[in-house]
Amino acid sequence: MTNNIMPAVQTPSPKQIKGEQPVTPLCKASSPTQRCRLAPTNTSPPRPAPVTPERNTQTSMLLLLCCLGLALGAVSPSADHEVKLERGSCPMFWYSFNGRCYKYIATRVSWADAELYCVSQRANLVSFHSADECSFVKSLIKNFDPAEGHTWIGLSDTQKEGAWMWSEGSEVNFGLWNPDEPNNTGGAEHCVHTNYDADSRWNDCLCHVTLPFVCVSRTVCP
Ligand code: BGC
Ligand code: CA
Repeated sequence: MTNNIMPAVQTPSPKQIKGEQPVTPLCKASSPTQRCRLAPTNTSPPRPAPVTPERNTQTSMLLLLCCLGLALGAVSPSADHEVKLERGSCPMFWYSFNGRCYKYIATRVSWADAELYCVSQRANLVSFHSADECSFVKSLIKNFDPAEGHTWIGLSDTQKEGAWMWSEGSEVNFGLWNPDEPNNTGGAEHCVHTNYDADSRWNDCLCHVTLPFVCVSRTVCP
């Protein structure tokens, strides 16, 4: 690779499996006549309880609760509008959405260094052109950063105050600003990050702040 910014590859380390502790018996029989405390005195096998209508009802209720639990577990991801991540025809570590490839990079860098890294990958900082695309990138970030922290996107007004441009050069036809943003605090906020609040909206911010970021591949044709 020719880039000088190495992405943090988060490889889960294998779990340490500790050796099991030897099972300590309740007590040791020091003589054949000594019994362990709480040991059953009746050695004949227990007889099964007779099947009654009440028992049948209890069994049905248990089965119903099990099925309900399984059903609830199965729907949980869609409740948060999470989008399934698929590599599709994208390179390793990139994920596919609507014909473009996206990559999350956990290394914290300035907006300019983030853009330079994306360019070194024949990509740009991510741009957004629909709410669906925002949902996809939100899921991508959450997959690597469950806390959904601030993350650079490709929007800036570094060339002219208030003239927002995507670094990839596409038209700015979609916005998801946090209420009261962009506010250009101190007259010096020219770069944009997402995940400013629980709704994953945008905030303009100082460009030298260091954050993780998302790259998107370029479209071949305009
Ligand atoms: C403001 C943001 C600003 C940030 C800078 C916040 O209090 O609401 O607009 O970008 O401070 O740290
Ligand atoms: Ca701001």
